[in-house]
Order: sequence, then C-alpha cells, then structure tokens
Amino acid sequence: MPRCSLNLATMIFLVMLQGTVVVLFYSWYSQLSLGPCNSASSNGKVHVLLLSSWRSGSSFLGQVFSQHPSVFYLMEPAWHLWTKLKKPSARVLRMATRDVLRSVFQCDFSVMDAYLPEQHNVSSLFMWSHSRALCSPPACPLTPRNQFSNQTLCFKKCDSRGLKQVQQACGTYSHVVLKEVRFFELESLYPLLQDPSLDLRIIHLVRDPRAVLRSREASAKAFENDNAIVLDQRNVPAAEVQYQVMQEICRSHVRINERAQLKPPPLLKDRYKMVRYEDMVRDPHGEINDLYKFVGLEMTSQLSEWIYKVTHGKGKGSKTEAFKITSRDAAVVSEAWRSMLPYSKVKRVQEVCKGAMKLLGYRMVNNVKEQKRFELDLLVPRKQYQFSWLPANTKDPSKS
Ligand SMILES: *[C@@H]1O[C@H](CO)[C@@H](O)[C@H](O)[C@H]1NC(C)=O
Ligand SMILES: *[C@@H]1O[C@H](CO)[C@@H](O)[C@H](O)[C@H]1NC(C)=O
Repeated sequence: MPRCSLNLATMIFLVMLQGTVVVLFYSWYSQLSLGPCNSASSNGKVHVLLLSSWRSGSSFLGQVFSQHPSVFYLMEPAWHLWTKLKKPSARVLRMATRDVLRSVFQCDFSVMDAYLPEQHNVSSLFMWSHSRALCSPPACPLTPRNQFSNQTLCFKKCDSRGLKQVQQACGTYSHVVLKEVRFFELESLYPLLQDPSLDLRIIHLVRDPRAVLRSREASAKAFENDNAIVLDQRNVPAAEVQYQVMQEICRSHVRINERAQLKPPPLLKDRYKMVRYEDMVRDPHGEINDLYKFVGLEMTSQLSEWIYKVTHGKGKGSKTEAFKITSRDAAVVSEAWRSMLPYSKVKRVQEVCKGAMKLLGYRMVNNVKEQKRFELDLLVPRKQYQFSWLPANTKDPSKS
C-alpha cells in the first residue's frame, strides 16, 4: 500500500509538472509567433524613421513623438553632414546619411564626432532643445519624463558637455525616433531593415506640393544650401530653382511610395506607412492614434489633450521662424496657399508634380476660380486611392 500511495503522489506531481511545462511552453510559443518581428534581437526597442521633406509638417509630427514619454527623439541627424561637407550632392551623401542614422538608432553618438566642433556639447546637436528626451532625466533634470517640455526653458537650462548624457538617455527609452528630410529613395535603407539589431518602422509624411511651395517661398533664403545639394550643384537659373527642387521632391515621393506600396520587397512589409499632412490636420487624433499603433506606442489622455491644443490654436499667425510649431488652426493653415499663391505658380508646380499629386491624392485646379473656391475639396479621400496589400495577403508566417 505505501508503495501505491507513493506512486499516486508521484503521478499527481508528474501530471502537474507536465501541465506547467505545457503552459510555459505555450506562452513562450505564442510570444514567439505573435510578437513583433526582431523583438528579441533589438531587445524590444523600436526604431522609427520619420521620412519627410522640407515644410511638410514634419516638425509637428516630430513633436507628436518627441513629447511621448517612451520616446527618444532627435531631429535631422543628417543636417550635420549636409552642412559640414563642401558642395556635396544628395547622391554622394546617401550612404553616409544612412550610416549616421544606423548609429544614432543604436544610441552610438560617436558617429557624430566627424561632423561636430571639436569640444562639442549637447547644444551642438541640431535643434537639440526640440527633443523632450534631452530636456528630461537622465539628460537634464528640468522636465519630468511624463511632462511636456518647453523648448525655451530647455535651451537655457539643459546644455551639457559632450554627448555622454545624450547617449545615456537614448539607452533608457523603448523607442528611438529620428526625423529626416534628406532621403529621396528607400533602397539605401534596406540594410537597416535587414539589420537584426534594429526593428525599423518608416513613417512617410507627404504634403500637397502647392502648400509646400508656398511655405518654402516664405523662407526661401533658408533653403539655399539644401537646394544646391538636391540639385547636385547644377547651375539652374534662379527663377527655376524652386520648381526643379519641387520636382525632385515630388519624384522622390513617387519613388518611395511606389516602392513601398505597389511592389514592396518582403522586408518592407508592415514597416512602411504613408501619412498625408492634410489627413493629419483634419483628424489629428485619429491619424496620430494610428501612427502610435503602427509603432507600438500608447496614446495617453495627456497626449490626446496636447494634440488637440496644438492643432486648434487661435488665429492664422505668421510663420516667421523656419522650424517653429505654434498653436494655430492647422486645418486652416494647411490651405493658406489657395489664397496666397498666384495661380501662375500653382499651375507651374502642378506641372512638375503631376505624377506625385495623382498618386498621393491631391486634385489639380484648372483655373484661379477653382483655386479660390474653398468649398471645392482638393483632397481625394484616402480609401479611393490608397492601395494596401494588408487585407489581401495574410501575414507571412515565416516572418514572425
Ligand atoms: C562646450 O562647453 C564648454 C564648457 O562649457 C565650452 O568651453 C565649449 O566652448 C563648448 N563647445 C562648443 C562647441 O560650444
Ligand atoms: C516656456 O517658457 C517660457 C519662459 O518661462 C514662457 O515664457 C513660455 O510661455 C513657455 N512656453 C510654453 C508653451 O509654455
């Protein structure tokens, strides 16, 4: 009998043990198969590239990420390359730009050494005070991590020697978000998509080229250096520069969007999302919620309130400072070109950007009357033009 009861106890133990093993194995397995790609190798960190162009609302979108408590954000690391080197072309800078991004995504700031002054400080980084993370611990004691930062105060109080604190801060966030306006294609980014230490998501922000032209004209001087690089230092008559640059920008939107949506290579699947600035200002909460979801960030009620405030401010305001975001009625501002830009210029930019406007869903105007008829909606609803492979193809099991 004692032998028998011992056996019974052993049996019960073994059954329980087996049950535990099954439960543990199942949870391990389900994590393995449902978790985001590369999560193990990138240590769960997500790397987000805000890919845009000048004057397309990317400062605003940048702030939407920068102010999130889980995000380490930096604006335009490639600005340093574009300004440091003498008379380069965009093509020549492409790979160096890519490699700077890779290092910064990995929180390795030694890469900046070549492009910064010798005794550099946090304030040597372009637009550093726009990054909430650089105004918060451990980079700076000023702003608690779950609060909104104030650029003016941060600029006065948060500079420090070297980039050690920047690097340290970067390591403490689940998301590293970089904004770049200096990519004109996606192919140079493929190695980053394949890099097992990165879990890269690309958010491609576009805007109506007519609105971009108006905004660029308002501060034309600020773009001289960049224009020359975009145009490969070609000699272009002054009156033509704007249009040729716009043409390059529009072509790059087509190139990037077609590559990612019409014939995407498998490595781009679920990693690219295009957003139109106009959709974002019409429904900021909905669009930003989608973007957060796409990169695995949570929307908080604090952020939701902040987003409402910055997109529904009073008055049109004048956009004097090149990189300022202010509380104005964003939806009104986004159509300012319709009253401010002469039709001759509208016509011209429509010509050079025809393909991009068709692809991205911006309707042309055929005369000045149409331009000024504000009730005529020039934005093609997204569902009518956007092609998505998501519903058709189910998730590729080999990728997860
Ligand atoms: C960095 O800060 C140090 C000390 O505060 C200063 O001497 C140095 O000039 C600064 N470097 C730059 C590039 O501003
Ligand atoms: C930021 O701080 C400055 C200086 O204290 C203040 O004047 C300004 O109103 C603040 N800005 C915001 C948006 O709170």
